[in-house]
Amino acid sequence: MGEAIKERAVFATKIGAVATTVGSAVGLGNIWRFPYEAGIHGGGAFLILYLIFVLLIGIPLLCAEFIMGRGTRSNVLGAYRKLSPTRHWDYFGILGIVSSILIISFYAVVAGWTAEFCIASISGQLEFTTQEARHEGFMQLTTGANSIIWTLIFLFFNFSILFLGVTKGIERASNILMPLFFLLLIAFCINSFNLPGFSAGINYLFQPDFSKVSSSVILGALGQAFFSLSLGLGCMMTYASYFSDRNRLGKTAATTALLDTMVAILAGIIIFPAVFSFGLSPEAGPTLVFEVLPHIFNQLPGGMWWSTLFFLLLFLASLTSTVSMSEISISYFCEEKGMTRKSATFTSAFFSFIGALLCAMSFGWLSDFKIFGLNFFNLFDYVSSNIALPIGGMGCSIFVGWVVKKRYIENQLTDFGAFKFKFIGILVFFLRWICPMAIFLIFLNSIGIL
Ligand code: PFF
Repeated sequence: MGEAIKERAVFATKIGAVATTVGSAVGLGNIWRFPYEAGIHGGGAFLILYLIFVLLIGIPLLCAEFIMGRGTRSNVLGAYRKLSPTRHWDYFGILGIVSSILIISFYAVVAGWTAEFCIASISGQLEFTTQEARHEGFMQLTTGANSIIWTLIFLFFNFSILFLGVTKGIERASNILMPLFFLLLIAFCINSFNLPGFSAGINYLFQPDFSKVSSSVILGALGQAFFSLSLGLGCMMTYASYFSDRNRLGKTAATTALLDTMVAILAGIIIFPAVFSFGLSPEAGPTLVFEVLPHIFNQLPGGMWWSTLFFLLLFLASLTSTVSMSEISISYFCEEKGMTRKSATFTSAFFSFIGALLCAMSFGWLSDFKIFGLNFFNLFDYVSSNIALPIGGMGCSIFVGWVVKKRYIENQLTDFGAFKFKFIGILVFFLRWICPMAIFLIFLNSIGIL
């Protein structure tokens, strides 16, 4: 085992580890998925539920994944195996690996759109004058062969980075890009104050109307919290396996949750005032952000440059997230199946390309092909975010709460007593009771039993 630890990469600096973790969490989930989910689920009430889930379920689960990952220095399946002799827990590891491929499949399609929008901004194609022209332009960019090609190009970038290894490629990119992206979002947020629909948008986002809360809103908010924090499939576990021993897991969990949530709220403050200013509907669904943003850029001086920079950074933020998703299966193939890193990367790429092709074609040739009324794109999103991730999170929570020894948890959180961590008792209580029960009740509620 000592050998295995020596061979594994470790993030070079503490800041690097936090930036990489935040790099995984911050991505399309915040900028694209959060506004459209909030939009279809009624705004303010969704936001409140989402914040409650991040605080009560997200942060404890981040700690749980970090404890398992850094403690075992293993891939997701290996982590369960090292901590328990029974094989029943393997299912949660496998579920995580399969869902990581499902997520990357639809995620790559949206990331492909960001690349297309970046190129379209440079060439002035996003300067639409009417709503119809804009919609038409959007359809051209997001359906058919173009979208498929860009999805594949995105995946190519993703797997090329993975060939470079963990510490160098990912860490360096995240350190520079994430702060830059954050600054740009703040600038756009300030711009929102000048829009005529500012107060209508802010009211929509921050004033909860609890009459709109239904089981699908609650499940949607839970799924969004998991998706946004990269939880429930072992991504954070895998990344924590590369943390150094001195990393303070509790602090890293809190920082990640805070920054990730701030980015989602900033995205909301950018999108909703614009939705109301330009007479659009907040309920547009997955296309919402791509339909709204060009309006914002069009009314800015030098809009084309802002637009290019924004989509470029969003593309890169998506990359840091998909790299973390792919690392789940790659580390599994390497460590459990004995593959070299190269063949593990090829294998992961192979499955991701197939899934992504199905999702990319959902807006064109395969648009009539539906399962449970959903095309591949929406099906993969729904099944992974609203079902697989919460189940995976529930498993991890029960596992760390009940199976892993309290002493082990303490040692990980305090670096074997080197520093204090005040919340161990509360954390274990949450992992044993609150998180699994809350997730379970939400499931019962969503299938109509409660
Ligand atoms: N958290 C990422 C985002 O919000 O864009 C998406 C994600 C990354 C989900 C990694 C799952 C994952 F394992």
